[in-house]
Amino acid sequence: MKIIILGGQGNLGSQLVKVLGQDHEVFSFDRDDFNALDKGALFSVVEEIRPEILVNCVAYNAVDKCEDKESYADALALNRDLPANLAELALKLDFVLVHYSTDYVFSGLETKREFSEDDTPNPVNKYGESKFLGEREIGRQAGRGLKYYLIRTSKLFGPKGDSPQAKPSFFDIMLSLAQDKKELTVVNEELSCFTYTLDLAVSSARLMTSRAPFGIYHLVNEGAVTWYDGVLELFKQTKLNVIIRPIRSENLYRAARRPKFSVLQNNKVKKMRSYQDALKDYLNNK
Ligand SMILES: NC(=O)c1ccc[n+]([C@@H]2O[C@H](COP(=O)([O-])OP(=O)(O)OC[C@H]3O[C@@H](n4cnc5c(N)ncnc54)[C@H](OP(=O)(O)O)[C@@H]3O)[C@@H](O)[C@H]2O)c1
Repeated sequence: MKIIILGGQGNLGSQLVKVLGQDHEVFSFDRDDFNALDKGALFSVVEEIRPEILVNCVAYNAVDKCEDKESYADALALNRDLPANLAELALKLDFVLVHYSTDYVFSGLETKREFSEDDTPNPVNKYGESKFLGEREIGRQAGRGLKYYLIRTSKLFGPKGDSPQAKPSFFDIMLSLAQDKKELTVVNEELSCFTYTLDLAVSSARLMTSRAPFGIYHLVNEGAVTWYDGVLELFKQTKLNVIIRPIRSENLYRAARRPKFSVLQNNKVKKMRSYQDALKDYLNNK
């Protein structure tokens, strides 16, 4: 199959290029090739290739920066307008659109800790709001026959993407902090699921080539934990002797609020392995 990957040098995109490239003809594009917000350039590239599937990994992911008005405009362009344009193009050219969203579309207040694919989003920060608006654009075109897989995921970790701008994931930041600190403070809240980008790429590839019904899917590694739990596991596996002090979200200044609970339930497809096993694999192959 011909598959286009947008954001193919990002953290998830790089893994998808590897996984899908094994069995398909993959066309990967990133910022260096063209600006995905340039609708004319985007449409002419896609019209030329005529893919069966287009996977969108482009996003504005700076959660705290999104709270600022100017950055929020950038987030809306990438997280709402781009999926809207892609949905329009998918309908026109009849390809399957695969798009990623986040657990941050949910509010995660005390009363509800886990969310199914059908639960109603209610984001508590601007990043979550921009991603939800992107989901809504896709949902709007679903009524007109759009073929799509909207995949929500959370707390990604794995190798840094091929882009020079690619950011290290949480576990790598913790490992590098542990090089020169004897003690770390880590938030012991915000319960959700860590997800290994390689596992997510494999599960996404299976889903998008499976003829499963179109719609919303939750793909995460199993095992809901806080950031603190995750670091305990990381240092257990790496045998690093660092003191980790749990703190509450309120005690770490960040511009954006986070959902306290945003566990994504995967009720539709084969569950992914535990995040502990995935982390072991990642560390062994680093
Ligand atoms: N990271 C997480 O923990 C997490 C959690 C839940 C959901 N998600 C979702 O998962 C998906 C993948 O996330 P990720 O962490 O892999 O993202 P990422 O590493 O930030 O990758 C995004 C890619 O898009 C490219 N890009 C940005 N703006 C562009 C533009 N205007 N034109 C062309 N390319 C552009 C970036 O290029 P540059 O490198 O040049 O900027 C980068 O290669 C996103 O939809 C995200 O919302 C992520």
